[in-house]
Amino acid sequence: MINVAIFASGEGTNAENLFTYFANDTRIKIKLVITNKEDAGIVARAKQHKKTVQIVSKQALQNYTHQLIEFLNVENINLIVLAGFLLKIPHEFVSAFPNKIINIHPSLLPKYGGKGMYGNNVHQAVLTNNESESGITIHFVNEEYDKGEIILQAKCDVTLHDTVKTLATKIKKLEFDNLPKAIEQFL
Ligand code: GRF
Repeated sequence: MINVAIFASGEGTNAENLFTYFANDTRIKIKLVITNKEDAGIVARAKQHKKTVQIVSKQALQNYTHQLIEFLNVENINLIVLAGFLLKIPHEFVSAFPNKIINIHPSLLPKYGGKGMYGNNVHQAVLTNNESESGITIHFVNEEYDKGEIILQAKCDVTLHDTVKTLATKIKKLEFDNLPKAIEQFL
């Protein structure tokens, strides 16, 4: 059995997609959600799906890393999915879960990765540079932002008619289709 903890700071639409996708799965359980923002959309979505939500502030993540690791171990968490989690994961945390933390990023890394490259900033940069394709990357997390080993990438076309909004919609669809599959690879 794989017990998953989702870390999210935003709307949580990817998290919700996972709650639904794995709702009746006997091998993969989305067990709990960690967020740093108590008013983020993810909190309401998680509660709707009856998931435990733990609020961990930026300070707590840095100063009580050990306790968070303990908590996840007690909960038997063996896979951590960062789905729009905006805080940097401390070194100690990464070392505690080797090859067990994955992140989803809305570009074809190494392009459009790194600090400040999240959400619509990514799509805007892709459009500004007249890219003909974009996509998503699901990768392992190491100590550097968006630089861990790639698990999978999926692409979409970018046309002259695309706007930030239409590109964001294409990318979301790729994320919804591929993140559950990437998690299933851990079975
Ligand atoms: C996704 O686009 C993901 O690629 C990025 O953050 C976004 C989260 O969106 N890391 P949501 O909170 O799942 O709606």
